[in-house]
Order: sequence, then C-alpha cells, then structure tokens
Amino acid sequence: MKKIAVFASGTGTNTQKIIEHFRNSIIARVTLVVCNKPGAGVLSISANAQIPTLLIESERFFRGDAYLPVFKEYEVDMIVLAGFLWKIPVPLIAAYPEKIINIHPALLPKYGGKGMYGNKVHEAVIAAGEAESGISIHFVNEIYDDGRMILQVSCPVLTGDNAESLATRIHALEHYHYPRVIEKLIVDQE
Ligand code: GRF
Repeated sequence: MKKIAVFASGTGTNTQKIIEHFRNSIIARVTLVVCNKPGAGVLSISANAQIPTLLIESERFFRGDAYLPVFKEYEVDMIVLAGFLWKIPVPLIAAYPEKIINIHPALLPKYGGKGMYGNKVHEAVIAAGEAESGISIHFVNEIYDDGRMILQVSCPVLTGDNAESLATRIHALEHYHYPRVIEKLIVDQE
C-alpha cells in the first residue's frame, strides 16, 4: 500500500477527487495533506476526510529541512501537487526522484512557468485566441512546469468562453484523469 501526500494551496477540488479515488483502494491511500496557506479550502476537505494535515511555513520548507523528517515519519512514497503554489525545494526533489508529480491547467510548454496559475492561465489562453487548451500532468524537477510529461489531454476553447467557463471544462478533465494517472504510475513503478 503506497502512501500519497497531496500538496495543495487552494480550494482543493482535485485533492478531494484523489482522496475519494483511493479511499478503498488496495494500491494506495492519501495519508497526508500538505498546505502552505492557513484558511485554504483544502484544509476543510482534509479535515472532513479525517486525513492528517501539515501546515508548512516557508522558512523551514525553503531554508530548513524541507520537512523531510516529517515525510519520512509518515512514510510518504509519492508526492502529488494539486494546485500547490510554492516551488518544491531541491532536497525534496532529490529525496523523491520520479515520485513527485504536478498538474497544470493548460497544454505545456505553453502557458506555464512562474506566475501562471489559476485563471491567469485561462485568460492568457483566451487572449491568444487558442482553439484548444487542456491539462498537463508531469514529473517535477527544479524548474517550474518543466519535468517529463506523463499525460496531456486537450479540450476545445469555445467562442464566448471566459476564464470561468474554460476553467470548469478543464477542472472536469483534471478530476477524471489525475487520480487515474496517479494510480497507473504507482502500478507501473512497482
Ligand atoms: C488546478 O486547476 C490545477 O491544475 C492547478 O491548480 C488548480 C487547483 O484546483 N495547478 P483545485 O484547488 O484542486 O480545485
């Protein structure tokens, strides 16, 4: 049984879907939710699901031990980023090679990088007149949105779309694919 830590900074709808997907799984379980933002919606999701939550602070994460001893204590096997807005420090990447994945709400390498998150991504896609957008699920390395691609799925950008309507379409893709990709990765890596 692999132990998954989900890192999230926001509302946490992906976190919720991942928790639900693995709730009765024999392959893996979400055993820790890591959040950097007091008051974030994801904190009530983890509380409702009775999953331990670690609220991290930047000094220890970036200039201390990156909470590695805590992740070891929880025997975390895999780290899943679901709307986590801090960069992952190098010691953590080194401790979890090919075990940290991220989801981005656009077709990378376009519309990625620092500052490209949430509706900013969808606004940029619409402003550029793109006919399609989508999701990218990739391994995490030292550079934002740059690690090896695992899966990309596209969807149309429709006439009259705004950031919210496009975000809704993309969230649906994320909610469907992210838990399944995590599961496949765990099975393939065994
Ligand atoms: C998702 O769109 C994800 O792609 C991005 O952040 C968003 C998180 O949404 N990295 P939620 O908090 O899971 O609802």
